[in-house]
Amino acid sequence: MAPEEKAQRVRRMFSEIAPRYDLLNRLLSLGADLSWRRRAVALALEGRPRRILDLATGTGDLALLLKEGAPEAQVVGADFAPPMLALARKKAEVRGVEVDFLEADALALPFPDASFDAVTVAFGFRNFADYQRALHEIHRVLAPGGRLVLLEFPPPPKGAFGLVYRLYFGKILPFIGGLISGSFGAYRYLPESVEAFPPPEALKALMEEVGFRVRYELLTFGVAAIHVGDKG
Ligand SMILES: C[S@@+](CC[C@H](N)C(=O)[O-])C[C@H]1O[C@@H](n2cnc3c(N)ncnc32)[C@H](O)[C@@H]1O
Repeated sequence: MAPEEKAQRVRRMFSEIAPRYDLLNRLLSLGADLSWRRRAVALALEGRPRRILDLATGTGDLALLLKEGAPEAQVVGADFAPPMLALARKKAEVRGVEVDFLEADALALPFPDASFDAVTVAFGFRNFADYQRALHEIHRVLAPGGRLVLLEFPPPPKGAFGLVYRLYFGKILPFIGGLISGSFGAYRYLPESVEAFPPPEALKALMEEVGFRVRYELLTFGVAAIHVGDKG
C-alpha cells in the first residue's frame, strides 16, 4: 500500500472508531494496557523531562498519565485524527489536567528542532506510513539527551502461548471489536498490522540507524514491548 493511502486509511479508521476506542482498549487487552502504559510513563519520566510530546496521542490516555506523573512538565499530545483529539480534550477537562492537544502528522511535525526532552508513542508507531521518516522527525524534535519511549505490539510470540494469542488476536478480537465499534475493517487491520510490524530486534536496529541508543523490554509474555531510545 502506498504511504499516502495508508495514512488516509488509518486517519479515517481512527476517526470512525473514536467513540468506542477507550472501551475496546480496556476490554480487548483485558485491562493489561493500563499497566503497560504506566510502565511506559515511568520510563519516560526517568530523566525528569520538562517538555514532553505524546505522539499519536489518540484519546490522550498516555498524555494524561504523563501530566499526572509530572505536573510541572509541559505536555503536548499530537494526533492526525480530530475525533480522537476531541475525546482527549474532553477527558483532560473532566480530570482537570492541563495538556495541549493539537492536530499534527507524525511524519511532518510542526515543531522546531530540540523542542522536547521526551517523546512517547503508544500503539501509534505501527500505524505510521513510513517508520524511518517518523523516527527522523522524533529524533529531530528531541533535545540532546532526550528520550523516545515506544510502546507497541510486536508480532505474536512463538510457541503454545503464541498460538493461543494468535487465535484470540486474529479471530476473537476482530469479531468483538467489529461488533462493538461497528467497524470490522479496523479490527481486522489491528492483527494484520501487528503481524507485519518489525520484531523487537529489528525495531531496535531501525531506531539505532537514526542515532538512538536503544534497549527494550517485553511485557506480558511478549504481547507488548517498550523500546527506549536515548538521543546522544
Ligand atoms: C491505536 S491509536 C493509539 C492512541 C493512544 N496513543 C493510545 O495509547 O491509546 C493510534 C493513533 O495513532 C494516530 N496516528 C496514526 N498515524 C499518525 C500520524 N502519521 N500522525 C499522527 N497521528 C497518527 C491515529 O490517529 C490514532 O489516534
